[in-house]
Amino acid sequence: MNAREDFSNRIEEAIKHPKNLGELVEADAVGTVGSEDCGDMLRMWVKFKEVDGKRVIDKATFQTFGCETAIAVASVATELISGKTVEEALTMSGADLSAPLGPLPPLKIHCAQLVEEALRSALAPDAQAPTQQNFAPTLLQRMQAPAQESKKIVLRPSNE
Ligand code: FES
Repeated sequence: MNAREDFSNRIEEAIKHPKNLGELVEADAVGTVGSEDCGDMLRMWVKFKEVDGKRVIDKATFQTFGCETAIAVASVATELISGKTVEEALTMSGADLSAPLGPLPPLKIHCAQLVEEALRSALAPDAQAPTQQNFAPTLLQRMQAPAQESKKIVLRPSNE
């Protein structure tokens, strides 16, 4: 098996059962980043808890319009940062966050950087608190959205 096949197998294995995929409704912070290189986006939600007087990451979840590598890295990264303080999580680079997947090929390094940037965005002191806009609209929300304003169309009588 060559290096490329080995990498593909590792990614395929990781995305078979991605961990922490989806919105985290009770999140304390959310970070969203987009990669100008490829147009991919990644959003990460983070929830904190207190352990022994320290604020640590209780859970992190993600959604992405990124490639399979971004999904795989985000999946392992959300597991790696669980239980870490903000300071500890911020010391982790894209390479650290993707370490369980093995080395990434040069063209895929930015996928891990996308995850790192989303995490940094969510952990920034001024990170956004989740709002309704941070969540993808569900079918139910779309159906509950106010209908567009109706317009009255007046038809002229045909003899005018
Ligand atoms: Fe752009 Fe992977 S996130 S190719």
